[in-house]
Amino acid sequence: MISGFSRLSKEEKLDWIAEQFFENPQVSIDELKSFWHPDAEQQRILDGFSENTVSNHFLPFGIAPNFVINGEVYAVPMVIEESSVVAAAASAAKFWSKRGGFHAKVLSTRKVGQVHFTWTGKGETLKAAMPAIEQQLREDTRHITTNMEKRGGGIQDIELVDLTEEEPGYYQLRVTFETCDSMGANFINSVLEEFGMSLQRFASIHEPLNQEGTSLEIIMAILSNYTPECVVRTWVECPVEDLEAGGQNMDADTFAQKFAKAIRIAQIDPYRATTHNKGIFNGIDSVVLATANDFRAIEACGHAYAARDGRYRSLSSCTVEDGVFKFWMDLPLAVGTVGGLTRLHPIARLSLEMLGQPGAEELMMVIAATGLAQNFAAVRSLVTTGIQKGHMKMHLLNMLNHLKATPEEQEQATSFFADKVVSFTAVRDYLKQSRNDRLVPEHFLKK
Ligand code: MEV
Repeated sequence: MISGFSRLSKEEKLDWIAEQFFENPQVSIDELKSFWHPDAEQQRILDGFSENTVSNHFLPFGIAPNFVINGEVYAVPMVIEESSVVAAAASAAKFWSKRGGFHAKVLSTRKVGQVHFTWTGKGETLKAAMPAIEQQLREDTRHITTNMEKRGGGIQDIELVDLTEEEPGYYQLRVTFETCDSMGANFINSVLEEFGMSLQRFASIHEPLNQEGTSLEIIMAILSNYTPECVVRTWVECPVEDLEAGGQNMDADTFAQKFAKAIRIAQIDPYRATTHNKGIFNGIDSVVLATANDFRAIEACGHAYAARDGRYRSLSSCTVEDGVFKFWMDLPLAVGTVGGLTRLHPIARLSLEMLGQPGAEELMMVIAATGLAQNFAAVRSLVTTGIQKGHMKMHLLNMLNHLKATPEEQEQATSFFADKVVSFTAVRDYLKQSRNDRLVPEHFLKK
């Protein structure tokens, strides 16, 4: 245990963790420091994102080019540590670029926040006071909302929700917001906290809420990450016969039918749906991370949405009707292209520049299309070749790096495993064998 860790300088923090946890303290300190940004100002900005920072954690920043979305071509920035994901997205992007590309449409952009409170008086009394309460809340938050209103956003509806049947005395103000190009978390939370104080004040001053024996207590005020009214739709479609190349050793119709069945299975079975949706989020999270949006919020919302009818299901759907293959997904995505870290994080700034400085709605479409592309690529592999062949090939490099293979050994191993099953044991044995083989002549030479 340590007290006052946060007050230590960065060097002192490093010294402390190195002494406590590392076998070779100086070596580990040097390694951690080697990931510091060479520009001290940039490092200062990165440190400012969090607390108690001692270094930076690197993840690969990759590009999936040739994404045609609504007729525009994008090179999509992706941050992900899993091999095959970027390759799969790029492959699906290229595949669909020749079949009309991805289509996307934002269906709505409303976000939700709640003030949770208890009221011991009569529900009708509270209900009757709502118009006056709403007016007061709007007035008391004018200083926060003016700017957002100028940008075309602000508070939309304020609704009183009676949940006393679930929990005695429990009500909420359910508030909807439009936050334009920002994700809006700070704006929403500031408004809601002000609403909480304002509501409390109102109830203590105004008749008939302030009568003897009645009380109103604010429990908490916070946005909801569940945004079922901030939704983007994305889809691809083509005549079944155009799927030929996608089938890989399978005729187009068989491929289309098998693909659609795989999607239906993910609609039916939560075990499969979880893995299926995980594949979708491989794509979504990568772009969300690259643009410094909040991937935990996006994930939480996406999974809640996938269970919106009471059973956890696939986020994507597919039909094969009248010779047309259609594959689509509706997805709630609350993202921003201004505010938060989107302009502060250097890679996020460059990612947004690569995407042509999109607004939030355009970014929603790019992210959703990447998720659908990822899902298409994964399910296409699953119903044709299986994923292990391709996946393990990509993973081979990680194994070789882990086994400290030289660039020459990596090249040889890649060609050796081109037509073989890759496993850690097979790669380790292969390296051991090839190193031994190489040692023999040298050994003889020395003699
Ligand atoms: C692996 O990260 C993702 C997949 O398992 C997704 C899926 O099964 O659909 C391949």
